Amino acid sequence: MKIKNLIIFGTRPEAIKMAPLVKEFLKDTQKFETKVCITAQHREMLDQVLEFFEITPDFDMDLMKPNQNLYSLTADIITGLKPILEEFKPDYVYVHGDTTTTMASSIAAFYSGAKVCHVEAGLRTFNKRSPFPEEVNRSVAGSICDFHFAPTKVSEKNLLNENIDKKSILITGNTVIDALHFSSDKVNSSDYSDSETEKLREIVDFNKRIILVTGHRRENHGDGFINICSALKDLANKNDDVQIIYPVHLNPNVQKPVYELLNNIDNIKLIDPLSYPAFVWLMSQSYLIITDSGGVQEEAPSLGKPVLVMRDTTERPEAVDAGTVILVGTQKDKIITEAQKLIDDSTIYNVMSELHNPYGDGNACEKIVQFIKEV
Ligand code: UD1
Ligand code: UDP
Repeated sequence: MKIKNLIIFGTRPEAIKMAPLVKEFLKDTQKFETKVCITAQHREMLDQVLEFFEITPDFDMDLMKPNQNLYSLTADIITGLKPILEEFKPDYVYVHGDTTTTMASSIAAFYSGAKVCHVEAGLRTFNKRSPFPEEVNRSVAGSICDFHFAPTKVSEKNLLNENIDKKSILITGNTVIDALHFSSDKVNSSDYSDSETEKLREIVDFNKRIILVTGHRRENHGDGFINICSALKDLANKNDDVQIIYPVHLNPNVQKPVYELLNNIDNIKLIDPLSYPAFVWLMSQSYLIITDSGGVQEEAPSLGKPVLVMRDTTERPEAVDAGTVILVGTQKDKIITEAQKLIDDSTIYNVMSELHNPYGDGNACEKIVQFIKEV
């Protein structure tokens, strides 16, 4: 009898970090029957990832609604998964990280009787309002899951402190590094061409230093985004030799302030969210990254790019400890001061941009598959 796996995800970052796991399980069709279910909590931003990794979901719940809310999204995921779980009857369900998809899918999978596996387990800020609602989402998933794939020793320790059995935890590194390797192999292969990266080359001003910006966190909606935009505007005005490129997240609570406050500034380019390979290329071309993203905090140290994180807390202390990431919150002055230091002072810049990769060597998925074979 084959082991039946159901891999569930719903948003862009989950898709990027689960895609290599899907590929790894699909390598062994003797042992595993592996299916992919997307909640489609995201739509366009998820489809971009599926296309690049060439994954066709077996189940597409197609749930995204414009400006959706947490209550109905959570309910729709749990009720929508019931018939899928009852039809496929998976032995193992895999969820990733800390989104609403993660939390709600882990509950539904638990109800179905499947063993539930948490990829990117054990990240904590110990502040349930930051990031909101992710800290609670991942804690709920952690308390439900049977197996915990922790990216680092720090995340393993967080789980042990919650009395989770050590035997159910495996330190794997972060699957985001597996995704980065997959992406660079694909992009560097001779038959690959990417029209989006080509178009991006026309936007990038190679005579300037690129500051790449992304942001979307719910706790930054409202005043946080107004402060962030105001800081970016000042930085652009003060620094002619800098070009800010900002692929704007499709959440309307982000689109509205960003387009209202930063449109029509010469050295700020607001663009649509980029496909994964184009974004990785843009990171590699950047001088500095300013973001509130979780995934970007993990990728940038691998590419030797300093990151200013527009948050007050981080569940990823490894890069902060290594000195490649600084938390700057969403106070305008703090963002400007820290960015300006990196623009002006090459000594500080060089220390921060040293290559550092605390998130593994890109074989997290292999380790997960091996673990499931031996369980
Ligand atoms: C979600 C996750 C967050 C994750 C982020 C990654 C929750 C509560 N939030 O936040 O943890 O870090 O994704 O990006 O799980 N939209 C589109 N097209 C898309 C995607 C989003 O139009 O492809 C718009 C829709 O109007 C949607 C809204 O953005 O209703 C919000 O999407 P949602 O997934 O609820 O929140 P995010 O801010 O994307
Ligand atoms: N990313 C992308 N296109 C973009 C911006 C980001 O493909 O225009 C990728 C990025 O490389 C990272 C992930 O999306 O892997 C981060 O997603 P996001 O910031 O939306 O979510 P978070 O990581 O904060 O949960």
